[in-house]
Amino acid sequence: MERQAQESRKIILHSPEEFAPMRRAGQLAAACLDMITPHVVPGVTTGALDRLIHDWLLDHGATPATLGYRGYTKSCCISVNHVVCHGIPGERVLAEGDILNIDVTALLDGWHGDTSRMYAVGQVSRRAQLLMDVTHQAMMAGIAAVRPGATLGDVGHAIQTVAERHRFSVVRDFCGHGLGRSFHAPPNVLHFGRPGEGPVLKPGMFFTIEPMINAGRPEVKVLEDGWTAVTRDRSLSAQFEHTVGVTETGVEIFTLSPRGWHKPPYPSA
Ligand code: MF3
Ligand code: CO
Ligand code: CO
Repeated sequence: MERQAQESRKIILHSPEEFAPMRRAGQLAAACLDMITPHVVPGVTTGALDRLIHDWLLDHGATPATLGYRGYTKSCCISVNHVVCHGIPGERVLAEGDILNIDVTALLDGWHGDTSRMYAVGQVSRRAQLLMDVTHQAMMAGIAAVRPGATLGDVGHAIQTVAERHRFSVVRDFCGHGLGRSFHAPPNVLHFGRPGEGPVLKPGMFFTIEPMINAGRPEVKVLEDGWTAVTRDRSLSAQFEHTVGVTETGVEIFTLSPRGWHKPPYPSA
């Protein structure tokens, strides 16, 4: 999401009982990303993928949280190649060599599970594959830094370190976010930072970690449609997103793939 002005609203601490419904929402969103995987092939439109996701979520007792959110009219975001985030599904036809992010937020029994993965259409370039690998590695390094007493600066620093080691850049203009009964809540989860800075993590905090990593420069611009964010230098961009909760001892990832499909390449039929 877009970085919000730093507000004084408090970060919600969820009770141990509230982990269960959050886990169900997260697992449904992750299963939805599993479901769509075999449909990501050359010739399919992003609009067709969006309809599959819409219908599947409704069939499973959930609603797509993006539908009607601040005027957004689709059930997911699909961001292809140099699109950083918030790509609007439509007539775009996927072609061999494309890389794309599909971002789904399931609203189930009042709880938001928000997750995204990269997908590869057929064979992709070695640089595209490396960018996806490093972006996934960066997200997981951020998650590994989550535990009570750590700070969001520790998380951002871990992500930034992985990305910049490969001379890729971290997008500054969008960040992760608190969530739960709300879709977007405090805190802002920046994907860069300094160790020891920022809010201190406490058990019961729920938030996303969703780094956008560019192969080129970090600057983005938003297109006329008011949503689609692209890299200013038209370099490739990648993103993964998990919803996590801070536990007494560390972290729970609510949106792990039930099928173990963490990053491309995924098994094909
Ligand atoms: N799921 C996105 C996120 O990770 C938010 C999409 S809002 C939309 O925060 F309106 F663009 F769909
Ligand atoms: Co999110
Ligand atoms: Co999302």
